[in-house]
Amino acid sequence: MRSFILSVLLVLGLAISPSFERQCTEPPPGAVVVKPGTQVVGQFSDLGEAVNSLPADNTAQVVFVYPGTYVGQVNVSRPGPVTIMGYTKNSMDFTHNTVTLIHNASLATGAASDDLTGTLRVLSNNVSLFNLDIRNNFGIAFSNGQAIALSNQGDQIGVYACRLFSYQDTLYTNVGNHIFLRSYIEGAVDFIFGRHSIAYFEGNTIASKGAGCITASGRELNDTGIYVFNQNTIIAATDAFPNVTGNVFLGRPWGDFARVVFKNTFITAPMNKTIWSIWNPGDERIDFILFAEYNSFGPGVENAHRANFSTVLSPSQAAQYTLESTLPNYRDWVDMDYLLPESTENL
Ligand SMILES: *[C@@H]1O[C@H](CO)[C@@H](O)[C@H](O)[C@H]1NC(C)=O
Ligand SMILES: *[C@@H]1O[C@H](CO)[C@@H](O)[C@H](O)[C@H]1NC(C)=O
Ligand SMILES: *[C@@H]1O[C@H](CO)[C@@H](O)[C@H](O)[C@H]1NC(C)=O
Ligand SMILES: *[C@@H]1O[C@H](CO)[C@@H](O)[C@H](O)[C@H]1NC(C)=O
Ligand SMILES: *[C@@H]1O[C@H](CO)[C@@H](O)[C@H](O)[C@H]1NC(C)=O
Ligand SMILES: *[C@@H]1O[C@H](CO)[C@@H](O)[C@H](O)[C@H]1NC(C)=O
Ligand SMILES: *[C@@H]1O[C@H](CO)[C@@H](O)[C@H](O)[C@H]1NC(C)=O
Repeated sequence: MRSFILSVLLVLGLAISPSFERQCTEPPPGAVVVKPGTQVVGQFSDLGEAVNSLPADNTAQVVFVYPGTYVGQVNVSRPGPVTIMGYTKNSMDFTHNTVTLIHNASLATGAASDDLTGTLRVLSNNVSLFNLDIRNNFGIAFSNGQAIALSNQGDQIGVYACRLFSYQDTLYTNVGNHIFLRSYIEGAVDFIFGRHSIAYFEGNTIASKGAGCITASGRELNDTGIYVFNQNTIIAATDAFPNVTGNVFLGRPWGDFARVVFKNTFITAPMNKTIWSIWNPGDERIDFILFAEYNSFGPGVENAHRANFSTVLSPSQAAQYTLESTLPNYRDWVDMDYLLPESTENL
């Protein structure tokens, strides 16, 4: 009970601590500007065209996006660092986001791969995304419903106060080192997934929209891949389907070496009692997995009866999965303003 109260205080700390204010309402000097209907020479009304206009060299480039809804797939693939920032009066809080990017593709609509369904595809290294709402509006299909909002296929990708929406496979965190801070990730089926990446999540809201597993780690070998979640909140989406009740799982193993750690998670979503799932009956894929939790708390896990292939970590085991141990060079590329205050004290 004491640790429950402590944990609630930790999560509330985010809301009540004097939070860092940061605005992003003017394009920084040198930024490429995107604005709906702009007639200004040098500006773009299409986000994909703006990104494609960046020089294919090693210079760092910034794209500043004015409020609006932008339709169509965007690929980031140039060699140098790219920052895409959405206009906002409060860059720390995704509820103030004003920029939406929408695309509608899935394997069912003819895309040749999961990645190619992505609304925003990050194929290069050193990319930072701030205050963008990224939607794959395809919706649900009985089969081939994979419809990715954000596909991360590069190294050192930071996602800050963004919102990602889809149903199946919303976030493809597949290759490279990735961080997700203070963002919102919504889906129902396997909606945080990938094969090889090292991904760290902190201060995010993860919202289940219907029956299914939050993560589907596709780690197939004993490689460095891992998903570490620390101090996130898991809820049922406000417009969730009724079958969400009793049918949300923290993860199922797409790969036999799936490795997922949830620490200090506040869970109100109506989880299945077993908390974790096999891949499929007859094809369980649980031989070499690590499905671990430490200090999950909240109504969603009150009646848990955890699957016997999952692990509840001791405090000393949990202490091995820090931001520092997960992404040792994070100071070189992560925007640390977005870390939770109490997390920075614990490094
Ligand atoms: C993104 O890449 C895909 C696959 O190469 C291509 O079909 C699509 O046109 C690209 N989109 C843009 C806006 O360049
Ligand atoms: C990221 O950019 C920095 C300099 O801006 C560079 O030193 C580093 O190699 C880049 N990292 C990757 C993974 O491209
Ligand atoms: C997405 O595309 C599919 C197939 O083309 C279509 O049936 C569906 O209505 C579209 N959804 C939205 C939200 O545009
Ligand atoms: C959950 O409900 C949605 C909407 O009715 C449906 O499309 C989906 O197939 C259901 N999922 C499961 C696992 O029953
Ligand atoms: C994976 O590799 C690590 C370190 O190399 C080793 O300690 C561990 O036992 C291996 N796990 C499996 C399941 O092979
Ligand atoms: C929990 O998951 C199992 C396996 O998918 C399912 O049989 C059971 O009905 C679920 N529990 C609830 C309360 O829905
Ligand atoms: C784990 O649970 C499953 C189903 O509840 C059972 O069949 C299996 O024997 C158990 N395995 C171990 C190692 O206890």
